[in-house]
Amino acid sequence: MLKQLYLIGFMGCGKSTVGRYLQEEHDLSFVDTDTFIEETHGKEISEIFATGGEQLFRKIEIEALRSLNNVEIVSTGGGIVERKENQITMEKNGFIVYLETSFEEIVSRLQADTTRPLWNQNLKKREQLYERRNTLYLSFADAVIQTDAMTVEEIGEKIMKIRREE
Ligand code: S3P
Repeated sequence: MLKQLYLIGFMGCGKSTVGRYLQEEHDLSFVDTDTFIEETHGKEISEIFATGGEQLFRKIEIEALRSLNNVEIVSTGGGIVERKENQITMEKNGFIVYLETSFEEIVSRLQADTTRPLWNQNLKKREQLYERRNTLYLSFADAVIQTDAMTVEEIGEKIMKIRREE
């Protein structure tokens, strides 16, 4: 049985929704890194970006991830793969699952979203970010789940199966 399981993937792929499902249905401890950062710093992610830029946010994110080393399910921000340190932390503590969602599906889910600083740019830039990140997620992941046609419950149960078998 795995000690810790990390959910990675692009903004809007369902990491925190699936994490909450696992917490509620399977009684596992769960923390989302963005929520943790907002609570411990008393600021919204967009405010951290606005005042300290992405650089500061990434530093905070590295520390947050390191400190969450006793939580069974950790959902991460979409940019967790931007720093190699985070791969080392996650590999040391547990297993990394990439929730892969197509760009088209992400666009339809995040249509009205204005809360994510790195989504607030034109379509071409969003797509470039998606492509670059997809390569990074694949390089970090121990397992990949293609989520487009799956419900939250199906994704959660697949993760439980991985968790039992590893
Ligand atoms: C980011 C994704 C966000 C959040 C921040 C940066 C990214 O998390 O950490 O806005 O770089 O992709 P979600 O993936 O939960 O939206």
